[in-house]
Amino acid sequence: MTDHPAVPPGKPTSYSRVTLSRIMTAVDVNLYGTVHGGVLMKFVDDVAGAAAARHSGGTAVTASIDEIVFSEPVRVGDLVHAHAQVNWTGNTSMEVGVRVVAERWDSAEDEPVRVATAYLVFVGVDVGGAPRPVRPVLPETPDDERRFREAEIRRAHRLARRRAIQAHRAA
Ligand SMILES: CC(C)(COP(=O)(O)OP(=O)(O)OC[C@H]1O[C@@H](n2cnc3c(N)ncnc32)[C@H](O)[C@@H]1OP(=O)(O)O)[C@@H](O)C(=O)NCCC(=O)NCCS
Repeated sequence: MTDHPAVPPGKPTSYSRVTLSRIMTAVDVNLYGTVHGGVLMKFVDDVAGAAAARHSGGTAVTASIDEIVFSEPVRVGDLVHAHAQVNWTGNTSMEVGVRVVAERWDSAEDEPVRVATAYLVFVGVDVGGAPRPVRPVLPETPDDERRFREAEIRRAHRLARRRAIQAHRAA
């Protein structure tokens, strides 16, 4: 028996896909003059949170950020777009994938460059902050299906790592 309400019907991946865009400014830089990683991490968390809230139809909190890769530096003046989608859903948790690309301010006709990739876990919560059921995500395209399967691999590794550390501490 559970106190949770029934799980609502699923939604396709495209329902909650979100893009945030902003131009990087001088307040965003690190000591090297490129954009600070923490600025991009906040941007990633914001867009992922928007996708998770939209998919789950309510409040969702960041439970973990288990991978963020910065593949190219971002510069002041670059127009940066963060694209987020819900890759996978469990009972109360969701994996959100984020792809960040930059349009270089000095070569705007070139293709945007991928500058970061991240995977985050959000948990839908009720007004008291307790986990609540989230509706299933329904992958639509072959890429969505691939991301769903890859998210399951990441989750299996995440849970195995947590169990191994708990066992190590208990030994
Ligand atoms: C996230 C939080 C709600 C989870 O609560 P909890 O009581 O530990 O939840 P449970 O152990 O019942 O797990 C609930 C779900 O979260 C997942 N989860 C919990 N901790 C996790 C972690 N560290 N990494 C990944 N997933 C996690 C579980 O696998 C489970 O998923 P499922 O229901 O889809 O199977 C709670 O830890 C919390 O409030 N954390 C603070 C969140 C926060 O302040 N974030 C920053 C600001 S938004």
